[in-house]
Amino acid sequence: MFLCFNHSVLACLAWLSLATATNLYATHYSGTVSTLSLDRDNNGSYLLSLASSLETCGSMPSWLTFDSTSRILYCSDETGDASIDGSVTSLAAGQDGTLTDITTATAPGGGVDSVIYNGDDGARYLAIAHYTGSAVSTFRLPLDSNSETLQVFHYNLSQPGQEPQQDAPHPHQVFLDPSGSFILAPDLGADLVRVYAINNTTGELDSHCSDLTFPAGSGPRHGLFWENSHPILTSQLKTRKQDDVFLYTVNELDGHLKAFTVSYTPDGCLSFKEIQSFVPYPEGQLPEGATLSEIRQAGDYLYVSIRTDHGFPPNDSIATLDRSSNGTVAFRDLTSSYGTVPRTLVINKAGDLVAVGDQASSNVAIVARDPASGELGEEVASLKIGDPGQVGTAQGLSSVVWDE
Ligand SMILES: *[C@@H]1O[C@H](CO)[C@@H](O)[C@H](O)[C@H]1NC(C)=O
Ligand SMILES: *[C@@H]1O[C@H](CO)[C@@H](O)[C@H](O)[C@H]1NC(C)=O
Ligand SMILES: *[C@@H]1O[C@H](CO)[C@@H](O)[C@H](O)[C@H]1NC(C)=O
Ligand SMILES: *[C@@H]1O[C@H](CO)[C@@H](O)[C@H](O)[C@H]1NC(C)=O
Ligand SMILES: *[C@@H]1O[C@H](CO)[C@@H](O)[C@H](O)[C@H]1NC(C)=O
Ligand SMILES: *[C@@H]1O[C@H](CO)[C@@H](O)[C@H](O)[C@H]1NC(C)=O
Repeated sequence: MFLCFNHSVLACLAWLSLATATNLYATHYSGTVSTLSLDRDNNGSYLLSLASSLETCGSMPSWLTFDSTSRILYCSDETGDASIDGSVTSLAAGQDGTLTDITTATAPGGGVDSVIYNGDDGARYLAIAHYTGSAVSTFRLPLDSNSETLQVFHYNLSQPGQEPQQDAPHPHQVFLDPSGSFILAPDLGADLVRVYAINNTTGELDSHCSDLTFPAGSGPRHGLFWENSHPILTSQLKTRKQDDVFLYTVNELDGHLKAFTVSYTPDGCLSFKEIQSFVPYPEGQLPEGATLSEIRQAGDYLYVSIRTDHGFPPNDSIATLDRSSNGTVAFRDLTSSYGTVPRTLVINKAGDLVAVGDQASSNVAIVARDPASGELGEEVASLKIGDPGQVGTAQGLSSVVWDE
């Protein structure tokens, strides 16, 4: 009410009528991190607007990881390669979404994704996947001006892979298993998903576990774990059973989605059994030049963003898949990505909205989702940020995350 004190009754009502407001953060390859405000009025209409924009995160901001506990954003800079360093920047996010730079640390080049993980006694760490840098690195958190890498795994290929993009190893993502004890890194160049066991005393990654190998030319890009929940049996389950945990991956180069059952083995590693491999597209075939990009899960559904299929011209597509209890998934339908080259896709916690980061058209599209049926609906808001990018280049809108 105090906020209304100095304003006219109408302005005050207008302010109160902005019934809900949520922030999102987005990176643009031109060198900005922006705060977007998603407001919903009493009529139920959404408005997405640019609240502020910071020039930060090196010359190629590519990915954001939001730590909601500390309200710190970690931004990976894709600048650099195997011999030229890039950076990682931490930013403080105020409750109102205002961003302030905390620090920038030198990191291997080509940072494209990161994940926060825990060690003993409240220690926290960040792992980063470096695409052009052919590396996976880790940092102890919080980052400060003296931060150096805790570890760097540099990879080489003994010979180039089958596809032109496989000139070198290209770790594309890092993500945690449901127990928080392992980090996986799909490597598009090496046709592997690299597996690291977390040493919770030191925060170091131990690479002695076997990697998950893919056929030549697959180009695994992103993945996620999915743990079956057993509402009745949870208290009785002391250990994870083989059929409780599944891994899903999307391949950028051969267009396949793969499903695996995951076992926790007595030697402190993971083993995987492939249960499915198919192209999640009508007729089981992607149009020439189309590639799978992001994979996300909510409820009993998976979502895969598809770049450059022009499924809803000029826009591209999102594939929705239904999952059955045995872990296999079935292609359901395609809906519009409401922009071109949907590089990223994030679902809010309520499961009723999806933010699509369309890279080439450089817009964030907010799409309605029915949490019960999983169906994606109409675009409810969209905002163009910065300059559009050329398809196939590192230009345009690189990523988007919800502040929640
Ligand atoms: C809500 O809808 C009414 C009737 O269509 C319209 O007059 C009013 O301007 C709308 N309010 C807002 C905040 O959009
Ligand atoms: C990878 O290759 C680079 C240059 O070709 C070399 O400097 C580096 O030592 C190699 N690294 C490994 C782990 O073999
Ligand atoms: C964790 O690292 C420490 C120090 O290197 C080592 O002594 C310990 O054995 C490691 N723990 C595991 C489970 O490997
Ligand atoms: C630390 O890791 C070991 C396995 O390496 C595990 O047995 C132990 O439960 C972990 N500790 C915590 C606190 O997670
Ligand atoms: C998994 O369930 C689906 C749908 O019920 C079924 O079509 C498929 O055959 C099952 N697969 C296995 C390996 O049991
Ligand atoms: C494509 O996306 C844009 C941006 O959101 C939207 O304005 C337009 O209506 C969409 N076109 C089609 C055919 O879906």
